[in-house]
Amino acid sequence: MTKLLTLLVGGIATLAAAQTAAPYTDAKSNITFQAYQHTTGYFLGLALPNDPTGNTDVIVTIGGKGTGWSGVSLAGPMKNALLVLAWPNSQAIVGSFRKTAQYGSPLIATGTFTQTLIANGTYINSTHWTYTFLCSKCIQTDGTTFAASANTTVLGYALNSAAPSNKANAASSVSKHTSRGQVTFDLVKARSKDFATWKAWATPKVQQGFQA
Ligand code: HEM
Repeated sequence: MTKLLTLLVGGIATLAAAQTAAPYTDAKSNITFQAYQHTTGYFLGLALPNDPTGNTDVIVTIGGKGTGWSGVSLAGPMKNALLVLAWPNSQAIVGSFRKTAQYGSPLIATGTFTQTLIANGTYINSTHWTYTFLCSKCIQTDGTTFAASANTTVLGYALNSAAPSNKANAASSVSKHTSRGQVTFDLVKARSKDFATWKAWATPKVQQGFQA
């Protein structure tokens, strides 16, 4: 019995170390994501349309606990990747695209990509904050993000429990992450026939570098 228990615990530890995403349905929006959750409360989820051919859209949910920032590299590494950075500011969420060629607080990235708020999946409550958005034209072909046709990918996550220096400003600099790493996402499992329905919930009033 003791041996069996040891084996079981060993198995769970291996699973945790592998850092893979798992299915997660948001209680408010009912959107089902492939999501990764970190012990700090940080989480990151992706939802994709059924047909990956030529697709450039992805629905992202990102969040955490407290007032610090949460970030994702849509390619895996920090450098030369399309990054998304988000944090709570009072009762609002501030989101931006970032990119950097060197390690340091990444500057705002501009391009055709946009973030459009999905309001029923964005909230701040007593336990955590959640920002859900349609990332439009976000899947690139230049290696700065995962490829539309990929069946699995590695994404980068980063977070700091300290709030950015100027949290009302989407372009604020941030302090270096206190945790960061890479996570494997099964993109086939992230695909859903309901994507078009969820995508239609995105409200165009909110653009990149916004405050919702
Ligand atoms: C002042 C801000 C930042 C500094 C100085 C910084 C610096 C670094 C450094 C030196 C590394 C190499 C490993 C390590 O030392 O931990 C790293 C890794 C990483 N960073 Fe940052 N970073 C910053 C902000 C960010 C942000 C905002 C994101 C995401 C939105 C991010 C995502 C990552 C990821 C995913 C890795 C692991 C993969 C890799 O090594 O490229 N970083 N960062």
